Amino acid sequence: IPVEPFDLVIFGGTGDLARRKILPGLFRRFRAGQMPEGSRIIGAARGNLETSAYRDLVRGGIQEFGGSESSDGDSLAAFLDSLQYVSIDATGEGGWQSLAGLVRPDVIKAFYFSVAPSLFGALAERLHMHGIADPESRIVVEKPFGRDLDSARALNHTLAEHFREEQIYRIDHYLGKETVQNLMAVRFGNILFEPLWNNHYVDHIQITVAETVGVEGRGEYYDKSGAMRDMVQNHLMQLLCLIAMEPPAQFEAGAVRDEKLKVIRALRPVPAHHIVRGQYDADGDQPSYREEAGNPRSFTESFIAIRAEIANWRWSGVPFYLRTGKKLRARHSEIAVVFKDLPHSIFEGDQARHRNILSIRLQPNEGIDLTVTIKEPGPGGMRLVDVPLDMTFATALGEDGKDVPDAYERLIMDVIRGNQTLFMRGDEVEAAWAWTDPLIAGWERRNDVPKLYDPGSAGPDDSLMLLHREGRRWREIK
Ligand code: BG6
Repeated sequence: IPVEPFDLVIFGGTGDLARRKILPGLFRRFRAGQMPEGSRIIGAARGNLETSAYRDLVRGGIQEFGGSESSDGDSLAAFLDSLQYVSIDATGEGGWQSLAGLVRPDVIKAFYFSVAPSLFGALAERLHMHGIADPESRIVVEKPFGRDLDSARALNHTLAEHFREEQIYRIDHYLGKETVQNLMAVRFGNILFEPLWNNHYVDHIQITVAETVGVEGRGEYYDKSGAMRDMVQNHLMQLLCLIAMEPPAQFEAGAVRDEKLKVIRALRPVPAHHIVRGQYDADGDQPSYREEAGNPRSFTESFIAIRAEIANWRWSGVPFYLRTGKKLRARHSEIAVVFKDLPHSIFEGDQARHRNILSIRLQPNEGIDLTVTIKEPGPGGMRLVDVPLDMTFATALGEDGKDVPDAYERLIMDVIRGNQTLFMRGDEVEAAWAWTDPLIAGWERRNDVPKLYDPGSAGPDDSLMLLHREGRRWREIK
């Protein structure tokens, strides 16, 4: 869908996120012909840089993180021409007049706050004071959106002093992932699944986001957050909402977000024995979590598994097992809908034990597959096997499918289009914290020590037990 010409101001324009994700993403959209002529990107940060030096910095970022397309020198040069730089003092007055002079009144304006949340208020206020933002302007904010309900409320309040909810785009980059959107297409674009999508037919649902990386240079931030705040409150919660929500009346921001909110509000409190926290141990010369985080007494979890339940008619009695962790066996993210056993099998013994599983893979090899039971080919009698009906996007969509757009690319263009469907509304974020806060408070009160797990494993054994004791097992991380 084409967009109107725009001015995009990136506060924190020299930062890591801008260099790695935002600007390479914009470049790819530029190459795809989606950045209309006359659009401009303005990097704003504290440092004193000439625009030419800023362009060099961005070129470096795109060459490093932009994939194969960055070798197209002509496009890159044309893209860099659309970039400007302003040195700005977020909490003072320096630079604001220059920014006001650069931003045009008659185009769509978006302001990306790629800075610490403590600066949101100062930026919002100055954008107004200097008449840079107008009632149609959009602001984009990143996670972490608070660290608990109170701080999230305070942030919402600060932003609301200067912007209407319709102007605020809270990014959760998981919502920009191709498969995550495909989940909605599969659920609501086919008649096959929706009739089965409930506690009559679904045994349980697993959501796994496994990473192989550790906390590396982010120890200081991560040690204050842990997997719960860093991943569950936002990314896993969003996946849970999309899989569990009622069909919205339209594919439209308000309707979708209303349904997601209902799911979060229907989540039951989780008892302590349904939560397993882990921390990765050292492995040979690889440092342990505590060493990497620089905190030898840290009780922060780098892994968490939760058995969640949604108290409504559709899902009553269906466990939602969530797990995420760092330094696990593989980079493997998937949502698996495990259907119930057949009410009666006409096949005998082992032959009867087959289940349909719908697996939605976020990474790697984005795609969806449905495990179905068929007869093993050959003359050996009626032997049943489970085989996947596989729809790996790259294969299904041919060459184009291999070039799945990065989450940020899509989300930034949605900001320009004014489409909030894939962004979190303020009340959703608050409801998510309202669910996670008591769980965190619970383990803090108990002085819970995370279980150590070996890097390269599937997390602590207790996490396996969470399912074993109910006669289930996690899907393999591979
Ligand atoms: C971020 C978290 O939001 O998501 C990181 O802060 C995590 O800790 C990252 O590594 C995972 O994103 P992706 O897209 O690589 O799965």
